[in-house]
Amino acid sequence: MTQLLDRTEISRAIEILESGGTVIFPTETVYGLGARIDDPKAIEKIFAAKGRPQDNPLIVHIGSISQVDDLAFDIPEVARKLMQAFWPGPLTLGLKKTDFVSDQVSAGLATVGIRMPSHPVAREILRSGLFIAAPSANPSGSPSPTREDHVKEMIGKVDAIVLAGECSVGLESTFLDLTSDPPRILRPGAVSYEDLLPYIPDVVIYRGTDKSASPGTRYRHYAPNTPVFLIKGRLPLFEVFMQQHPEGIFFVPDELWQDQPNQIRFLPEGSLEEASRQLYDDLRRVDGKADAIYIPVLEEIGIGRALMDRLIRAAQGNIINLEDEYENLYRK
Ligand code: TXA
Ligand code: MG
Repeated sequence: MTQLLDRTEISRAIEILESGGTVIFPTETVYGLGARIDDPKAIEKIFAAKGRPQDNPLIVHIGSISQVDDLAFDIPEVARKLMQAFWPGPLTLGLKKTDFVSDQVSAGLATVGIRMPSHPVAREILRSGLFIAAPSANPSGSPSPTREDHVKEMIGKVDAIVLAGECSVGLESTFLDLTSDPPRILRPGAVSYEDLLPYIPDVVIYRGTDKSASPGTRYRHYAPNTPVFLIKGRLPLFEVFMQQHPEGIFFVPDELWQDQPNQIRFLPEGSLEEASRQLYDDLRRVDGKADAIYIPVLEEIGIGRALMDRLIRAAQGNIINLEDEYENLYRK
């Protein structure tokens, strides 16, 4: 049986975690499915509930910087600076793991991802001092949950769910691997490349699919069942394309949005933050409702990089370039 808890029942959530149960709780990025890292049976329940491959490592969540030294060693100076600057917040640091982090949690890697979330509910849970492994609380392969109705789909699969509204960021944390030289961003998030540059001038964005570097990148991620196409090109061309494909569902920038049944308002008032917050809910809502979903390509700056990363995955690389498609449109 799954207990449904609210923000006033955090002590119950902590009890369940302490005794080896699984609890879904909100973080500022997405809801996480947590269990204590020092209980192999509890960790096994995470993999079972998500249908997650055993070779995909888990991020460890902590409530205080002092816990880092139990999890990691050989910690570079820049890591301490980043913790000061960005924790609590949506930045996960990849460091060399100690023996306290089991192979089950790290999926056999010599490294561990560590993060200190800022959501008040997550903080209250982690104030217990527990070390909590928490992947996004979705079945493996579907979009991460950012709202209460998303996590309710996990009723029956976990011991408890703390229902506490919407996640403010809406995209998973930035994963920064500090064990490589130069350090590399394995997953872009709300702590952006531009935010990290002053601390790590040579930081790179990893685009490969090397298994040992980033186990998660091998799996089909964030992809709805309905095919998604990214649309590249100027707004007037987007408008023409939209008129020619009335059977599709369109994510529409504010300039063109008209409150039609096949239009999702994307980028309200041009805000990439708002688009990020809504993305996974939008993808869930439109999935299965049309033959295709069309989404405009966005500017890759700040959180726009994270947004584009998730969109490219959702589209599995499908991009339609309208500048090519309509090459002759304005020449006639
Ligand atoms: O925002 C987040 O990070 C959320 C919330 C709940 O904290 N958690 C999350 O966890 O997104 P998960 O498991 O859904 O995604 C973690 C990603 C996976 O792709 C995994 O392969 C990768 O991070 N990862 C975890 N540990 C790693 C490590 N030591 N080295 C490289 N990649 C790692
Ligand atoms: Mg995930």
